[in-house]
Amino acid sequence: MNDTLKTIFSLHSTHGHFSNREITAEDLNIIIKAAVRASNASARQSYSIVVVDDKAVMKEYFEYAGSKALLFCLDFTRLKDTAEYLDHPFDCGGVLDFITAHTDTALSAQTAAIAAQSLGIDYLFTNSVHRGDMKRFYEKFKLPQKHCFPVIALILGYSESDDADSRGRLDGPGLVHFHEYHRLDPSELQAQVDEYDITEKNMGVVFFKRGVEQTYSRYLDWFYRVWCKPNSELRKRRMREIGSLLKEIGFIE
Ligand SMILES: Cc1cc2nc3c(=O)[nH]c(=O)nc-3n(C[C@H](O)[C@H](O)[C@H](O)COP(=O)(O)O)c2cc1C
Repeated sequence: MNDTLKTIFSLHSTHGHFSNREITAEDLNIIIKAAVRASNASARQSYSIVVVDDKAVMKEYFEYAGSKALLFCLDFTRLKDTAEYLDHPFDCGGVLDFITAHTDTALSAQTAAIAAQSLGIDYLFTNSVHRGDMKRFYEKFKLPQKHCFPVIALILGYSESDDADSRGRLDGPGLVHFHEYHRLDPSELQAQVDEYDITEKNMGVVFFKRGVEQTYSRYLDWFYRVWCKPNSELRKRRMREIGSLLKEIGFIE
């Protein structure tokens, strides 16, 4: 296996157990330079990366603290300002623009994680930015009020322990479709349900493994009944809040 594949196959999250060891400015710079190498639509790079180094701020805003955090926001502000500067029209408010910029942003964030891993730096992605009042991110980090949306935070640092466990993945039927889409039949569904519970595959999310929920012996029972509880009030409220924010910042009518 070549070094690139070795890095990709060793990717793993550090779920909040970061030590006090700092990453160097040089490594941070390499990670950022790698992140912006990701593919992006029309060479627009429609994102911004906010670098956060205050641990208390990380903890308060992202729920996790490492040496540095990178807040990846999809963002058209720089492109809008440049258009205005050059006296050109520029249109960027719409669902399609949101989706395209979101793709740019996510690709950049994952590239940063791969770069970090290749340098021996641990990481955690968190979408904690979508939990609770999102307006506070706009206030704290002075994000533009239009056409800018926090997508994901990437916490960087060094894990407290080196017992990193690589998590398994599905990679077969139902996920990969050759030639045409294939819905899983009952026996394939059962195989998948069982696959989640193979200890060596290490598929269950960390909270389940920590034993927060003991009632369920099968991972997917917990996943559907507890973790993704349908129609929960919290979920409904979040959907409403994100919907109205997307209207306010100019991506949906
Ligand atoms: C969009 C997104 C949000 C995530 N949010 C959290 C989070 O808030 N807390 C956490 O511990 N892990 C979070 N993770 C990490 C996932 O739990 C982790 O990637 C997954 O369990 C697979 O494990 P691995 O990354 O070690 O392979 C997030 C990952 C993604 C892509």
